[in-house]
Amino acid sequence: MKKVAVIVGSLRRDSINKKFAKALAHLAKDRLHFDIVDLSDVPLYNDDLWETVPESIWELKRRISEADGVLFVSPEYNRSFTPVLKNAIDWGTCPHGKNVFSNKPGAVVGTSPGAIGSAVGQSQLRTVLASIHVVTMGQPEVTFLGRRICSMST
Ligand SMILES: Cc1cc2nc3c(=O)[nH]c(=O)nc-3n(C[C@H](O)[C@H](O)[C@H](O)COP(=O)(O)O)c2cc1C
Repeated sequence: MKKVAVIVGSLRRDSINKKFAKALAHLAKDRLHFDIVDLSDVPLYNDDLWETVPESIWELKRRISEADGVLFVSPEYNRSFTPVLKNAIDWGTCPHGKNVFSNKPGAVVGTSPGAIGSAVGQSQLRTVLASIHVVTMGQPEVTFLGRRICSMST
């Protein structure tokens, strides 16, 4: 069975994008193995960290390298995709010449509560993916207006 590494651009415990990714994994389970990569221990990109590379970076790079394709799932933040996702992409493309994303097939989906359900964020992500040699599926475009259940203490 082909393996798809799934990178979710939210660290939030109750993330609707994590739930979306898990639902897609469930729907595809007879045809694809979805490997949802945990980004919670991935530090902010810093060249100095190559002196003693954190295990979480090797793990991220290994899981993308081993995958047959990558699914990017992200909410929209201020009309872009999230810094969590950009950070994972930046680690994956470094050091120079060791880009684990190069020539991987990729697909982009996402959900946000705003009226356009992450469409602008996805568009920006597609521009970045082209520059790092991900072969991105043009269609289908999946923009999903997700609803959050808010609980906030005052
Ligand atoms: C800094 C920030 C900026 C946001 N900007 C947008 C936006 O431009 N468009 C939108 O639809 N939602 C925006 N949101 C709402 C998020 O998409 C929403 O919180 C979403 O549930 C986050 O995804 P998650 O549930 O997977 O964590 C923003 C949220 C944050 C924290």
